[in-house]
Amino acid sequence: MNHRVTSIRGPVPGPRSLELLARWARVEAQCTGYQAKVAWDHAHGVTVTDVDGNVYIDWTSGVLVTNLGHCPPELVKTVQEVAAKLLNNYECLHPWRVEAAEKLISVLPPHLDKCFFLTTGSEVVEGCLRIMKRKTGKWEIVSFYGGFHGRTYAALSAGGLPGPKKGYGPTVPGSIRVPFPYCYRCPFKAEPATCDLLCLDYLDDAVRAESTGSLAGVIVEPYLGAAGFIFPPEGWLKRLEQWLRAHAMLFTLDEVQSSYGRTGKFWAMEWEGLTPDLVSIGKGLGSGIPASAIAARSEVIGVLGPGEMSSTMGGNPLASAAVSVVVDIMKRDHPEQNALRIGALMKKRLQEMQEKSPYVGDVRGMGLVMGVELVKDKKTKEPAPDLTHKLIDVAAENGLLMGSVGVFGNVLRVAPPLVITEAEAHESLDIFEKALAML
Ligand SMILES: Cc1ncc(COP(=O)(O)O)c(C=O)c1O
Repeated sequence: MNHRVTSIRGPVPGPRSLELLARWARVEAQCTGYQAKVAWDHAHGVTVTDVDGNVYIDWTSGVLVTNLGHCPPELVKTVQEVAAKLLNNYECLHPWRVEAAEKLISVLPPHLDKCFFLTTGSEVVEGCLRIMKRKTGKWEIVSFYGGFHGRTYAALSAGGLPGPKKGYGPTVPGSIRVPFPYCYRCPFKAEPATCDLLCLDYLDDAVRAESTGSLAGVIVEPYLGAAGFIFPPEGWLKRLEQWLRAHAMLFTLDEVQSSYGRTGKFWAMEWEGLTPDLVSIGKGLGSGIPASAIAARSEVIGVLGPGEMSSTMGGNPLASAAVSVVVDIMKRDHPEQNALRIGALMKKRLQEMQEKSPYVGDVRGMGLVMGVELVKDKKTKEPAPDLTHKLIDVAAENGLLMGSVGVFGNVLRVAPPLVITEAEAHESLDIFEKALAML
C-alpha cells in the first residue's frame, strides 16, 4: 500500500482561505483566471499545503514554472545566500550574471550562441519581435490563431486569443495571423491522417492577401499553451520553418513554457530539430524565481547596439543565480526523462478515462504537458467551460489542484512539476477520476 501524500482535513475552501479570498477581493482587481478557491501557504516538490492545512498534489506547477518541483532546497539555499550579498545593481556587472549566461548557452543548441536576460515572458517576446524587425528592416509578423505570447502590446498583437486584446483598440500594424493546426477542431474540417498539413498551404494565401511585402518574421509556440495545450501534427513545425526560410523571414520560437524539460526534452525544438534564430525563454528558466531570456544567433541579436535593450530587473543577482542552479540541477537530474516516462503513463490513464467519460472529448500532449478538453457532447464537441470549473473545484475538494486554459476555457491543464513520482501520479489520477465521475 502506497503512502498517500494528499490530506484534506475539512471543507475546501477552508475558513482561512475564505477569509483571505474575501480580503483580497476588497483590495485587488479581480482580473485573474479561474482557480481553485484556496490560498496556498507552502509547497515542496509536487505537494501544496493551503492556509487551512490541506495538502494537495499540484498539476499546475504555478503555471508551468516550477519544473524542478516547488522550492527545491538547492535553489532556495542559493537564493538566500545571494540575497544576503547583492539584490540589484541594474546593468552593472556581477559574477552571477556572467555565470548564468554561460550556463544557459551551454544547454542551448550551438547555433544559439548569445543570450540576454529580462524578467517576464512578455518582455522577451517583445524583444524578439523588435529584433526581427530591426534585423530585417521589415515590419510584418506572421503568427497564429490561438497563440499566446504575453499581455504587452506587441506580444498581444502577435497573439491569437481575444482576451488580452479586449477593449485595446487596433493591434500593432503588420500583424498577420493565420490558423494553427487545432486538429480536434480543424478549421478546415480535415482529418490529420489525410490532410497532408493543408493548413500550411493556407499560409501562402494569407501572405498573398495580407502582406505588403514587408515580411520580417514568424513567431510560434511549439504547442499552443494558453489556447489549450494544442500540439501540431508531427512535421508541421519543420515544414513551417522551411516555408519561412523560403520567404527569407526570421524565426522566433516561443519556448517560454515549453522548455526546461516540460515536453520530455530540454527544449521542445529538439523534437523536430528546429533551428530558430531567436528563442524566448521564461517560466522554467528560474523554476520559480522570476527570470526570462532571449537566446539568439549572435549575428541576429547583434543588431542591437549599446543602450538598446535592458530592463530594471533583468539579469539581477537573484535571478541569475537561480538560472545557474536550475541548469546545474537539470544537467544532473534530467527531470525531462522523468517527464517523458511519467507523462506516458499519465496520458494512458487519461485516455482510458476519456473512453469512459461522456465529457472528455480529447486528451493530448507529451511529456508533462497535457490537456484534457471537456465537452458537453462528444459528437457536437460543444465546449463545456462550466463543467471545467466545476471539475477544478471538485478535484480541489479531493486533494488535486488544476488550472484551465483553452480557446473556450474548457481544457484542464495537466502539468505537474517534472519531479512527480509514479505513486504521486497515480494518486493524483485517482482523484481526477473520482472528480470526473462526480460531474
Ligand atoms: C508561450 C508563452 N509566451 C509568453 C508568455 C508570457 O509570459 P509572462 O506571463 O511571463 O509575461 C506566456 C505565459 O503564459 C507563454 O505561455
